[in-house]
Amino acid sequence: MTALTLSTSSAASLRADAVVVGVAKGPKAPVVAAGAEAVDAAFDGKLATVLETLGATGAEGEVTKLPSPAGWKAPVVLAVGLGDVPAEDGGYGTEALRRAAGAAARALAGSKKGAFALPIQDADDVAAIAEGALLGAYAFTAHRSGDDKKKASGAPLAEVALLGAKPRDKAFKAAAERATVLAEEVNRARDLINTAPNVLDPKAFAAEAQATAKELGLKVEVLDEKALAKGGYGGILGVGRGSDAPPRLVKIAYRHAKADRTLALVGKGITYDSGGISLKPAGHNETMKCDMSGAAAVFAAVVAAARLGLRVNVTGWLALAENMPSGSATRPGDVLTMYSGKTVEVLNTDAEGRLVLADALTRASEEKPDAIVDVATLTGAMMVALGSRTFGIMANDDAFRAAIHEVAEEVGEESWPMPLPSHLRKGMDSPVADIANMGERMGGGLVAGLFLKEFVGEGIAWAHLDIAGPAFNESGPFGYTPKGGTGIAVRTLVRLAERTADGELG
Ligand code: BES
Ligand code: MN
Ligand code: ZN
Repeated sequence: MTALTLSTSSAASLRADAVVVGVAKGPKAPVVAAGAEAVDAAFDGKLATVLETLGATGAEGEVTKLPSPAGWKAPVVLAVGLGDVPAEDGGYGTEALRRAAGAAARALAGSKKGAFALPIQDADDVAAIAEGALLGAYAFTAHRSGDDKKKASGAPLAEVALLGAKPRDKAFKAAAERATVLAEEVNRARDLINTAPNVLDPKAFAAEAQATAKELGLKVEVLDEKALAKGGYGGILGVGRGSDAPPRLVKIAYRHAKADRTLALVGKGITYDSGGISLKPAGHNETMKCDMSGAAAVFAAVVAAARLGLRVNVTGWLALAENMPSGSATRPGDVLTMYSGKTVEVLNTDAEGRLVLADALTRASEEKPDAIVDVATLTGAMMVALGSRTFGIMANDDAFRAAIHEVAEEVGEESWPMPLPSHLRKGMDSPVADIANMGERMGGGLVAGLFLKEFVGEGIAWAHLDIAGPAFNESGPFGYTPKGGTGIAVRTLVRLAERTADGELG
């Protein structure tokens, strides 16, 4: 993991591989952002002109490298695009800073130290730059061997120094520490998502949760296939029974002695989704190791809440199973008796997420939390609706849905509120069971949400985040988002927990 330091050193004298400055898109020409005054002065105040000559425009994510002024310790100046110059007096905004810092950190992969001289107005800016840099520096190398692993180009930037951020300023220091925890936990989720599905099966995921819980003194309980059978978890068992790697339900709980609110988080943890007997065609299964992204986000968020010592109780439920076809697999046509006692006719074994989540939602409801949020790569339909960067929010409570949308926006995670139209429920009527696991194709993401709603305890505020689009980035990296697992929803969940702790919710 990349190290973070706050520094008051001058850009000229700091030993680093590069000094990072911001450049914004002005109405006519690129504009050098605040924080880079010393660099600009060393270029006789002509840094913007030099950058323009080199083709820089200040567009978001654009990276331009140039040699440092003579006598500087750092050999390179790296100008990163911040996008449009902000309106009069306004700052660049935390998300623009986060993205720029991320792009710069990624461009410095293989280097030892980057000195970031980006515009800082307050502690929020420090947090954003720190978060962006630590997230942008991420690289997944767990499966590489020998020399390949050490290849300099793949190694993440080792150290980020934030210039102009006084380490003695308490608010700056706290912001940097919180950002470090957040980034480390988002990166924890990314690592889990990127791990190959033959390595991270339900048992391995549960063991990882146990080990981490032990490290942090969190309470953890793992139900194995025997305990699940004894408890009547028909949904989780029904999905997992086709696989040689048996399912698990993990409860991981953070408690604060003075907390008066409890938040339950439920994550879809399909470590691989082949579709089961309703097998996915080639072209649709290559990235399905990402189908545990919800559980990874929930796990990381509970750990982050604990590390930050938030004054709120947070319970994570990880519904872990592998969805595989085999002689023992659930068939389309089978009827499962769920943990709640409801029966479900499985019409399509590829609609497995809602089955494991249903059991976990019922179980989570038994403890009467103040609110439940589930996170799941649930439907391709949500990707069709919102694209690959935005998650959908459904809820049984309008205010709660709005609050989550607001919190997500605050942390820079794109989301959009979606409805749960009750008329779609009849499409899931089954001739043989209480409900079928599939309904109308149109509005498939909402149909899945309506299914889940039936398994939430009476009177509990509940929200469902369908992260099928943004969980796994199949195109090139952008901002602080790498290719592969993104760790989406971790920062929203943590901010939600913070708001709950501050008594701003529920
Ligand atoms: N895990 C998939 C959803 C998914 C698709 C996530 C693409 C990420 C990228 C889910 O289990 C699934 O297969 N859903 C089906 C439901 C359908 C059979 C009702 C879908 O969306 O096609
Ligand atoms: Mn599926
Ligand atoms: Zn799935």
